[in-house]
Parts: sequence; structure tokens; C-alpha cells
Amino acid sequence: MKVDGRPYRTIWLNADGWGVDIIDQRWLPHEFRIVTLRSVGEAATAIRDMWVRGAPLIGATAAYGLALAMREDPSDAALVAARDKLAATRPTAINLRWALDAVRKRLAPLAPHARAAVACAEAKRIADEDVEINRAIGRNGLKLLRRLAESKKPGEPINILTHCNAGWLATVDYGTATAPIYLAMEDGLSVHVYVDETRPRNQGASLTAWELTHHGAPHTLIVDNAGGHLMQHGLIDMVIVGSDRTTANGDVCNKIGTYLKALAARDNAVPFYVALPSPTIDWTVRDGVKEIPIEERDADEVNFVQGRGDDGAITRVRIAPEGGRAANPAFDVTPARLVTGLITERGVAEASPQGLKTLFPERV
Ligand code: MRU
Repeated sequence: MKVDGRPYRTIWLNADGWGVDIIDQRWLPHEFRIVTLRSVGEAATAIRDMWVRGAPLIGATAAYGLALAMREDPSDAALVAARDKLAATRPTAINLRWALDAVRKRLAPLAPHARAAVACAEAKRIADEDVEINRAIGRNGLKLLRRLAESKKPGEPINILTHCNAGWLATVDYGTATAPIYLAMEDGLSVHVYVDETRPRNQGASLTAWELTHHGAPHTLIVDNAGGHLMQHGLIDMVIVGSDRTTANGDVCNKIGTYLKALAARDNAVPFYVALPSPTIDWTVRDGVKEIPIEERDADEVNFVQGRGDDGAITRVRIAPEGGRAANPAFDVTPARLVTGLITERGVAEASPQGLKTLFPERV
């Protein structure tokens, strides 16, 4: 993705080779800040406090976090401690544990002195692979968009609704839900994106709208509750969202509110697609509602909103009375029966054990 004409990924090795640079997403869309992580503690803070977020990017950051840990201390005990520290940061997105397990498996048989360099190479491999996977998701999603374009009058855009940020900022590059949109634009298709603001943290308003603006993608920001109304009036051709964890049955866990969009889509016969890389599939889990741990975040995220004041300062304002209770489950599960299809790097699968088995015969 380009920011002001310059291509960026969302995470990369610092030029001095001793740190990992990230975009600190807490300040977007108001300020584009890059920070350098120099220790496993800093990597854990960046994930837990959502300087970086989005399932694939959390995974890549955790992998680099292990590399930073190995530079400090490459012992067996430090490897286990670093893995546990990073794994405890966010419970729902499975990419985090997937990336940590991949790096740890690679490092465990090595002599300690060899671990830091290999961990770094492995983290870079995971990041590069994410970019390739997302490009492939984009190509597979593009086929669906081309088919939709055939039913449109010349110049009439395909209207896509998305929730949260499953874009470039949630991955290393391209995004998952946004990859088909970006490829469609390159392909000359006319697309328009309705962006859910995505309370409580507003990743749609602050991140998706920002990256679509930088990419020149036509879009309209809407409040979370508007989607059903737009669908009833024929204004949405397709929903594409991301996933934090998809079960072997095809249930999809994603940002809170995704389930309600899927219900509205079903009621209005709007196709509901989920774009996801295969590391987001948890092959050990079948029933998403019963088995996926849902992150409960701080009530402050519900009681306050962050924005830029008229004086130009980024500030937080309270929107609920002092002393009241607020609950903040960060994700929900959309059952497979409400999902039209899963757009993966290997193709579009039916959201079912059979559908996933067809694309990933080695896994099921
Ligand atoms: O809490 P967040 O911002 O990490 O939640 C992100 C999402 O729910 C995304 O939709 C999901 O991680 C898919 S990212 C390609």
C-alpha cells in the first residue's frame, strides 16, 4: 500500500537490524506514526494495546517478537517465557498462536547461539507469506466480483459492505477483505465500499476509511446500524469481512457485530463472504460459538471515544455516565450456515467441513 506515494508494509525490520518497525495504528487516521519495537516486552505491549491489530498482523508481530526475545536471551527458558508472554496478549485471533508455534518449532532443535538469526528469517518468511496469501485471496475474490459486475449496467459500481478493518493495516500488505477490492480496481471494475464504523474502537472509521482514501477507493462511511437498512433497499451487492478464527466446520469468528450483518444479509439474500488466510483456520475447533474464547476488552473502549478536537489535539471524550457498567466482548461468531463462501488463498470454499476439506485435503 502506498501512503502519500510511498509504498509501505505494516511491519518490517528496522534499517539498523536490531528492531522491528510498525505503524502505530492508535493514532490513525489523524497521524501516521512509525515506532520501533526493540524487545519482546515492547512487542507484547504493541499487540495487547493494539498499536498493531488484525489477525494476520498480530501473528507477524508475535513472530518478530520471538526474534527480539532470542536476541536478548536465546536459552530454552527464555524461548518458552517469550512464547507464553506473546500468546497471552490477545486470546481470539488464532494467527497469533499459529505464528508463535511455527517459529518455536523451528527454533527448539537449534543450539541457542543460532536461534536469533533463524527466528528473524522465520518471522520475515511469515510476513512475506502473508503478502502472497493475500494476493491470492484477492485473485480468488476478484472472480466473484467479475461475476457480479456482469449484472451491472456500464459504469454502475458493485457495492460492497465491510466491517471493522480486514484491510492492509490488519495484515502485512493488501488485506484480506480488501484484496479483492484493490485487485478489482486494478482490473478496471467499478467498486464502491460501504464501511461500518465498527464501535467500540471504530477500526472502520479510523483505519478502513483511511486506507481506502489513500488507495483512491470510492467508499462511504456508515454507522454500524445502517447495514440492514441499506440491504433492504438493494444498496449492497455483497458483504466481505475478515476472520480472526474460522473453525473446521466453517464458523467464522470476527469483530463484534459481524454476526448481525450476516443475519441481515441472509434476510435480504445478499451474499456474505469471508476472506481469510489459511493460518486463520483453527482445525482443532468445530463449534465456534461454544469453543472460541472471546476477548473481553476494557469498558473504557465503550465509555469513551477517541478523536481529533477542533484545537487539533487527539483526545478522548466520555460518552456514557460516570459509574455505569459497560460490557465489551470484542468478537462474535457467525455460524457457517450464514456464510455464502470462504475466500481463501486456494480458492473459494463452501463454509462447511466438506468445503474446507476440498481445498485443504491435507488438514481435515
Ligand atoms: O480487534 P481487531 O482490530 O484486531 O479486530 C480485527 C478484526 O476483527 C478483523 O476483521 C480480523 O482480524 C481479520 S483481519 C484480516
